[in-house]
Amino acid sequence: TKHGDVKIFEGIQDLTTSLADYISERADAAVKDRGSFSIALSGGSLISTMSKLYEPPYNKIIDWSKWHVFWADERVVPRNHPDSNYKLAKDGLLSKVPIIPGQVYSINDSLSADAAAEDYEFGLRQLVKTRIVDAASSSDSPKFDLILLGMGPDGHIASLFPGHPLTHEKDKWIASIKDSPKPPPERITFTFPVINSAANVAMVITGSNKADVLQKAFGEKQDTGVLPVQMVDPTEGNLVWFLDKPAASKL
Ligand code: 6PG
Repeated sequence: TKHGDVKIFEGIQDLTTSLADYISERADAAVKDRGSFSIALSGGSLISTMSKLYEPPYNKIIDWSKWHVFWADERVVPRNHPDSNYKLAKDGLLSKVPIIPGQVYSINDSLSADAAAEDYEFGLRQLVKTRIVDAASSSDSPKFDLILLGMGPDGHIASLFPGHPLTHEKDKWIASIKDSPKPPPERITFTFPVINSAANVAMVITGSNKADVLQKAFGEKQDTGVLPVQMVDPTEGNLVWFLDKPAASKL
């Protein structure tokens, strides 16, 4: 479909298994193709849906030494703060698998939001130069092997919120936001040029509180403005949706 590949699961168990298959296949393909796997995570319920990855067979078959882990968005809080997406991913996944700490790119939590965004973009630019992260062929953007995104009940993705000027950012790879409608207010986020340059984007959306906005997202673009989730459209890549039945109930 024009929306990409939409997968709807009976329950969370089926979804988490299919997501683990999908992630390990993408990792395998990237390692065969380029020798490394660049993956970007988000916050929220996403990490809990990745839990099969630290169980057999996935924990054994995945070549964790090739993983390079980034955040599509992060809250500007200390790394051990309960609001930190890094902490969420570390506690829920990264501490349970043999990932190489030097290949986990968390934000510098001693910086202000603006400086942290600049610093993260600077680091990313070095990794694109050395091809740890691939480069897009048709634009000056990184081409992540896989970006995993959740969606808020307002239709936001990463920290790109409906009606916010950052949804139109064209130049920056990483932007700061200091007025996030979802707390905490200070965050950094991938911009659309980065999201839409990825080789693969997976939207992982569960729960009945997402049904209304998903219905809107799959319908016509609204006069009231396009929802960020409707702007996800990888130009050279693939888009896959992992939905559970409650989230997909109005499609
Ligand atoms: C963050 C996010 C955000 C999240 C969605 C969905 O706030 O850190 O990365 O984009 O993925 O708000 O969150 P839930 O899956 O918890 O609803």
